[in-house]
Amino acid sequence: MFPEITHDDVFRLETERMWLRWPRLSDAETIARRAGDPEVASQTATIPHPYNVGDAEQFVRRARAENGSGHGLIVAISFKKTPNDAIGVIGAHGSDFRGTAHLGYWLGREFWGLGLMTEAARAFVDLIYGITSLGEIVCDSLPGNVASRRVQEKLGFTSLGEAEIDAPARGGRVKVERMRLSRGAAHTAFGSRRPKMTST
Ligand SMILES: CC(C)(COP(=O)(O)OP(=O)(O)OC[C@H]1O[C@@H](n2cnc3c(N)ncnc32)[C@H](O)[C@@H]1OP(=O)(O)O)[C@@H](O)C(=O)NCCC(=O)NCCS
Repeated sequence: MFPEITHDDVFRLETERMWLRWPRLSDAETIARRAGDPEVASQTATIPHPYNVGDAEQFVRRARAENGSGHGLIVAISFKKTPNDAIGVIGAHGSDFRGTAHLGYWLGREFWGLGLMTEAARAFVDLIYGITSLGEIVCDSLPGNVASRRVQEKLGFTSLGEAEIDAPARGGRVKVERMRLSRGAAHTAFGSRRPKMTST
């Protein structure tokens, strides 16, 4: 799904305030603490609670394998001034070159409400449409996750209505609100900018 440029861990994406870069094993402790916060974990389909360092290490290994294969791209988010401190994660998974990417993200609670995920997700969506030929990005939120819905709306996502997904970390099948951003709608919402990425 992702081209060679993202397959190596020197790849990073720059936003005004943040770096989006491959997660590392040295992030595991921070990721376990921030993603293990019940207010964060409970809003996701994939992060169990409790969530320990071993779980986070497993997540990092899987993310790096997925990034290396190009089947997805999962990156840690950090402030530019503290690049080793992972404050959140954003990722896209998918199965083919022309289909759909599934977007997911979380941010440590102490960083909410500063427009950070909108900034990170906008750059990430720009990247997806800039370097792949994917036609659409979808994102699911648990009902009542107003902040996540709002991030998606600010990016131009529109509702596809209710869906049901497997969410093992939430105990089985759950209902979600599915939002979609097509390539055309992304272009209309925020034009086509060149993603600021580094790969050396
Ligand atoms: C969803 C999440 C990533 C948002 O990150 P963030 O950096 O705080 O998001 P932003 O600041 O860019 O934007 C949040 C928007 O939601 C709004 N918002 C937040 N809580 C809200 C509430 N309870 N009611 C109404 N609006 C709310 C904010 O006002 C802001 O909108 P605005 O810019 O129009 O004012 C963060 O809350 C999080 O990690 N939550 C837990 C995990 C999660 O939900 N992941 C997504 C799974 S789909």
